[in-house]
Amino acid sequence: MADLDDLREGAEFGLNETFVPQGFHVKGAAHLPWGMKDRLSRIFNPQTGRTVMLAFDHGFIMGPTSGVERIDLNIIPLTVYADCLMCTRGILQTSVPPSLNKPVCLRSDAGTTILTELNDNVLIDVEDAIRLNASAMAVMLAIGDPVFEAKTIANLYKAVDRGSRYNIPIMGVTAVGKQMTRDARYFGLASRVCAENGASIVKTYYCEGFEKVAAACPVPVVIAGGKKLPEKEALELCYNAINDGAAGVDMGRNVFQSVSPAVMIQAIHAVVHDGLTPKQGYELFMDLS
Ligand code: R5P
Repeated sequence: MADLDDLREGAEFGLNETFVPQGFHVKGAAHLPWGMKDRLSRIFNPQTGRTVMLAFDHGFIMGPTSGVERIDLNIIPLTVYADCLMCTRGILQTSVPPSLNKPVCLRSDAGTTILTELNDNVLIDVEDAIRLNASAMAVMLAIGDPVFEAKTIANLYKAVDRGSRYNIPIMGVTAVGKQMTRDARYFGLASRVCAENGASIVKTYYCEGFEKVAAACPVPVVIAGGKKLPEKEALELCYNAINDGAAGVDMGRNVFQSVSPAVMIQAIHAVVHDGLTPKQGYELFMDLS
């Protein structure tokens, strides 16, 4: 075991040094096999290197919470504006038309709900991800959780082992326990643990000092939106995350709980891919609304 005495916090993040892509538009993926690169290119736009993922997997722990009561009515009309869909296999098979032809980041672990103890998850079979033509598999990690940390890290590296056989990239999703401080030190550690265990994408949360989180993570980081914010603030969140090194967003509630969900996702898309400022993004939101 590494000597934990004199554990020094990282300070040399090279924040003025931009990442050199090494001939491929997805960070850390230059040396991956063709199938991995093809799948990652379906998620991350080769022109911008960025992505707007629409997350609507909330029902698997929360049930029909606000905005996902009717996938056919609330979510499907938004999918045309998303670069990638993140959902469970049950919703994909029952409610998402295959003719949409959108890449899917398949929620690939499940176990508990908000009614009991969250995070006690197991993996679905990689064969199911293949059958569903998933472009990536998403697996949650409860870093810092004394009960579920080891199990969820094991879920991630098992998913990486299985996904690698078929060139399916894995997205590590960092859950935040109530006891964790939501700061750059925590998210930096959690994101790096995902990448060190083979994740090709990391999903985490924006925080002050996020540029260090993104800089120290050798694969692309996308941010979750978290609880619903006023639209202008949500666009600021997207802008700040991209500005600080995120490769995109994987948002749910700030899209489907918006007063104008289809307009909101278009405004987010413009901020992420076209470099609109939050002010310009909000003007677009108001104009289209
Ligand atoms: C979290 O585990 C869920 O997988 C959601 O996909 C994630 O939290 C993103 O959704 P939101 O933007 O609503 O936080």
